[in-house]
Amino acid sequence: MITSFNPFSLSIVFLSILSFLNLTTPATANYLFHLCANSTFSANSLYQTGINSLLSSLSSNATRNLEFYNTTTNQNTSNPVFGLYLCRGDVTSEVCRGCVAEATKDLTTRCSRERIAVIWYDECMIRYSNESIFSTVIVSPRGSLSNTQNITNQEQFNKLVNTSMTSLASQASDVPIGVKKFGTNEVNITAFQTLYNLVQCTPDLSSTECNSCLQTAINSLPICCGGKQGGRVLFPSCNVRYELYSFYNTPEAPSPTPGLQPPPPLQLL
Ligand SMILES: *[C@@H]1O[C@H](CO)[C@@H](O)[C@H](O)[C@H]1NC(C)=O
Ligand SMILES: *[C@@H]1O[C@H](CO)[C@@H](O)[C@H](O)[C@H]1NC(C)=O
Ligand SMILES: *[C@@H]1O[C@H](CO)[C@@H](O)[C@H](O)[C@H]1NC(C)=O
Ligand SMILES: *[C@@H]1O[C@H](CO)[C@@H](O)[C@H](O)[C@H]1NC(C)=O
Ligand SMILES: *[C@@H]1O[C@H](CO)[C@@H](O)[C@H](O)[C@H]1NC(C)=O
Ligand SMILES: *[C@@H]1O[C@H](CO)[C@@H](O)[C@H](O)[C@H]1NC(C)=O
Ligand SMILES: *[C@@H]1O[C@H](CO)[C@@H](O)[C@H](O)[C@H]1NC(C)=O
Ligand SMILES: *[C@@H]1O[C@H](CO)[C@@H](O)[C@H](O)[C@H]1NC(C)=O
Repeated sequence: MITSFNPFSLSIVFLSILSFLNLTTPATANYLFHLCANSTFSANSLYQTGINSLLSSLSSNATRNLEFYNTTTNQNTSNPVFGLYLCRGDVTSEVCRGCVAEATKDLTTRCSRERIAVIWYDECMIRYSNESIFSTVIVSPRGSLSNTQNITNQEQFNKLVNTSMTSLASQASDVPIGVKKFGTNEVNITAFQTLYNLVQCTPDLSSTECNSCLQTAINSLPICCGGKQGGRVLFPSCNVRYELYSFYNTPEAPSPTPGLQPPPPLQLL
């Protein structure tokens, strides 16, 4: 089920200093934002115990080099906790493990008393809830980030983002339930400009659910990021991003030319 835009929508300040710090300390995951909802349970409650063991199960399973893992704690009690993590499809298992470790630690302080939490990093995402979140398209709470730089020829550019992302979305989602749903593509805009796209769903979604989640995200891009040189929409079940520089690892070209197109600052929408 896809819910519509709601008050949990939010936009984020993404300070360029964070990207800079991240370059100098590659082991650190790049925090984007988090959201906690539906407070509150009390300390030392069954729910608290469930979250604690959920977070430790997630981070320990990340050491098994899994990109995605879902689990339930307090199963068969009145207080089950459903949780999962997802790493970005192109990161190494070392980066994935590090990100999940940091995110689980972070959540214990950032969302210490809420039943529902989502935290996004560049490299991974963790969610938990008191209601089942598996095999369901969930698009709230959501966030978006936008590059502050305008693009020239906006109408044509927005159309290109839409068509190239839409085709990437149907390609990346066209695999069975349980299979990795991730894709990137590049489109030459001019001889000197290339558009880089990335899409990803949690693998527990069906092909149809994933594609529909991605399409909802793509259709939200003009709202947050229309006419901008970069943008992303982050839903719990899927996310999309585009930039005019390479921001993901490709097997053939492991790193972009340093200094050529540094990540520009992103700002509050
Ligand atoms: C989850 O928590 C919210 C807020 O406390 C509550 O309204 C809802 O009924 C809970 N869901 C279940 C399945 O217990
Ligand atoms: C909080 O709980 C209420 C009642 O169960 C639910 O309608 C609402 O969607 C929950 N909030 C979030 C962010 O999931
Ligand atoms: C993985 O999670 C399961 C429960 O979901 C847990 O039993 C197990 O100890 C965790 N860790 C590893 C390394 O498998
Ligand atoms: C993981 O998610 C699947 C649905 O995708 C669900 O059937 C399974 O029970 C979940 N595993 C746990 C341990 O909750
Ligand atoms: C929960 O209950 C089901 C059915 O009664 C049982 O098969 C399962 O093993 C139980 N799970 C746990 C973690 O106790
Ligand atoms: C981008 O364009 C908007 C309106 O189209 C304008 O308000 C803003 O100042 C421009 N920003 C930059 C960085 O040029
Ligand atoms: C984009 O341009 C590069 C370099 O000019 C070229 O190698 C590549 O084939 C072009 N890609 C597409 C999809 O046209
Ligand atoms: C993207 O293109 C499709 C098909 O042409 C169109 O239905 C949709 O409204 C477009 N979305 C945006 C955000 O422009």
